[in-house]
Amino acid sequence: MKTTDYSNIADKYDNNPYRIREIRFDNDLKEYIHNNKKSKYQVLDLSCGTGLYLEKQINYFNGHNIRWHGLDLSDKMLSRANQKVKNVNLVRADVVNMPYDSGKFDFIANNYAFHHYSDKAQALNEIYRVLIKGGVYKMHNIAMHDMPKWWVYHYFPSAYYEDVKRYWNNDVIFKELTLRDLEVK
Ligand SMILES: C[S@@+](CC[C@H](N)C(=O)[O-])C[C@H]1O[C@@H](n2cnc3c(N)ncnc32)[C@H](O)[C@@H]1O
Repeated sequence: MKTTDYSNIADKYDNNPYRIREIRFDNDLKEYIHNNKKSKYQVLDLSCGTGLYLEKQINYFNGHNIRWHGLDLSDKMLSRANQKVKNVNLVRADVVNMPYDSGKFDFIANNYAFHHYSDKAQALNEIYRVLIKGGVYKMHNIAMHDMPKWWVYHYFPSAYYEDVKRYWNNDVIFKELTLRDLEVK
């Protein structure tokens, strides 16, 4: 499987206006808070990159008692995140071995990263372990199997074949999440 070292592009990552504009108020987090009244919430942005999601949600959820966390494999992506957000627990680690207690998080956001994980089964085991019972794991990504005519694949057909190797399709994602006793929406 092809791997990408995001440290090589960390300085350019935030130049993509589409990525920045598409991040909206996280209604799923709002719903979780609404349905689970607690004095404090623990929220993890898994593979947080340069902190784009964290920066926006911290502003949107100002006034809620949330402890924000970000984890990423790349030092340079994390150092970009560190310039953007304050009072966030940023950690450099691999998803397959996260330095957190079991059942720590109420809500785990995971944006555009799952296809990068070389051991996806172990990543899901870890995600399940650190998620509180009844918590939410929100995986957000492109569904590349549904978009063979995407312009990127039109110009770079080899990218399509590389992506087929690293993206799980919806059926596999559904099966693997269900196997771990997660209710899939
Ligand atoms: C496309 S970027 C997405 C960043 C951010 N979530 C966003 O939406 O802008 C993918 C991120 O996954 C991280 N990543 C890749 N493999 C990882 C792993 N095994 N454990 C943790 N993070 C990883 C990369 O360092 C990179 O920051």
